[in-house]
Amino acid sequence: MTQSFDVIVIGAGPGGYVCAIRAAQLGMKVACVEKRATLGGTCLNVGCIPSKALLQSSENFEEASHGFAEHGIVVGGVSLDLARMQARKQEVVGANVKGVEFLFRKNKVTWIKGTGRIVAAGQVDVDGTAYTAKHIVIATGSESMPLPGVTVDEKRIVTSTGALELDAVPAHMVVIGAGVIGLELGSVWRRLGAAVTVIEYLDRIVPTLDAEVATAFQRILAKQGMTFRLGAKVTGAVVAEDGVTLTVEPAKGGAAIEVKADVVLLAIGRRPFTEGLGLEAVGVTLDERRRIKTDAHFATNIPGIYAIGDAIAGPMLAHKAEDEGVALAERLAGQAGHVNYGVIPSVVYTHPEVAAVGRTEEELKAAGIAYAVGKFPFLANGRARAMGSPDGFVKLLADKTTDRLLGAHILGPDAGTLIAELALAMEFGASAEDVARTCHAHPSLNEAVKEAALAVDGRALHI
Ligand code: NAI
Repeated sequence: MTQSFDVIVIGAGPGGYVCAIRAAQLGMKVACVEKRATLGGTCLNVGCIPSKALLQSSENFEEASHGFAEHGIVVGGVSLDLARMQARKQEVVGANVKGVEFLFRKNKVTWIKGTGRIVAAGQVDVDGTAYTAKHIVIATGSESMPLPGVTVDEKRIVTSTGALELDAVPAHMVVIGAGVIGLELGSVWRRLGAAVTVIEYLDRIVPTLDAEVATAFQRILAKQGMTFRLGAKVTGAVVAEDGVTLTVEPAKGGAAIEVKADVVLLAIGRRPFTEGLGLEAVGVTLDERRRIKTDAHFATNIPGIYAIGDAIAGPMLAHKAEDEGVALAERLAGQAGHVNYGVIPSVVYTHPEVAAVGRTEEELKAAGIAYAVGKFPFLANGRARAMGSPDGFVKLLADKTTDRLLGAHILGPDAGTLIAELALAMEFGASAEDVARTCHAHPSLNEAVKEAALAVDGRALHI
């Protein structure tokens, strides 16, 4: 007999598995289809979690090699055991994906192992077995964007997946794309000893960041040893025994040059992964960028079929997908789930970290909104100095008339943690004055946030 569910979620990444758990919490009978041998999707298996494990390990290695001496700690003969570092990364991944399996059991979510295909509204086929559901949720995520002329083999020319698996430190790594993946994984391999060159099409790095932050960030990365070639595009790659030869042209036209690399990391963005889902046959509409088109409540044009996460519009971030999963599950249960897209933090986990929430200065200018800026450097923060991390600053943007916080940008130590305070403030509609009048512990990095809030009104105390 065909098994039937209230909800079948296709894909067990952060969007899908969270949606499944929330729907189960709300009393629905839920299944989640996943073809990978483990749950957690790209994020837990080959994305956020393993990259953070390697970022931590490589930062520890760099500190032990170059940072301890300043603290009066003398260590000799620091050496790299890459196999152990990679094994630890896999242990971290293993613990996380097992955790999701545990959560599925706890919440009585059925894991259907295999590849799901939508046959019609209410009907899902998983490798030849039919299932029915009142609601189908597509949470199939995204895949690396290909670049014509640069064929990925995951050995010499790698995506983020291959870059997490290298078994030797390349002498020269070329990263195509100065986005989040390129800079995070480029940092990992630079710290472990690779020379890293980043080739970026635009004339700036991380296009989504506030421009002032991006410029300061690039300067810090360059000081750490990363080389940038901005305004350049890669038009071809030839792989040989001993490496890869890339053809690089100025983005605006001109003579091409050759750049040699031992490993090339292709990180020019990601695109929705919806192949083999049966969307064309069922008639689910895509937008101009082949993302699944949904309404404000994640419904596609076909009644009973919904989509969330990287497969639809919006930033390709795990926490955005999670929040959509929760909101959709609550809607399916008759509640009023909602995602505030104006307050989605984003973080680049380099050292220092970069974090942002809300609007950039460029976006406010373009929208014609009058704003005030408050800035405070970590150099003037006692805790940052004690930590030996004085680079960077906090930059707050507030409405000129109402003082309401419109954007927050942090380049500095633990920026990814510090931004949470500002996301919460913005969610509550706080003004810069509200943040400035909140007592912040001393000595903490958070004091830089408070000082930046004071600076909006020109009354920072420590600068
Ligand atoms: P991205 O969109 O962040 O950056 C891609 C970069 O490649 C852009 O700067 C773009 O201008 C450049 N580019 C595009 N075509 C190019 C070409 N032909 N030649 C040279 N440069 C080119 O994409 P990325 O880094 O691949 O990350 C994919 C997604 O994953 C993003 O949405 C990102 O937010 C997400 N992600 C988030 C992380 C986090 O939150 N910490 C970590 C890793 C990924």
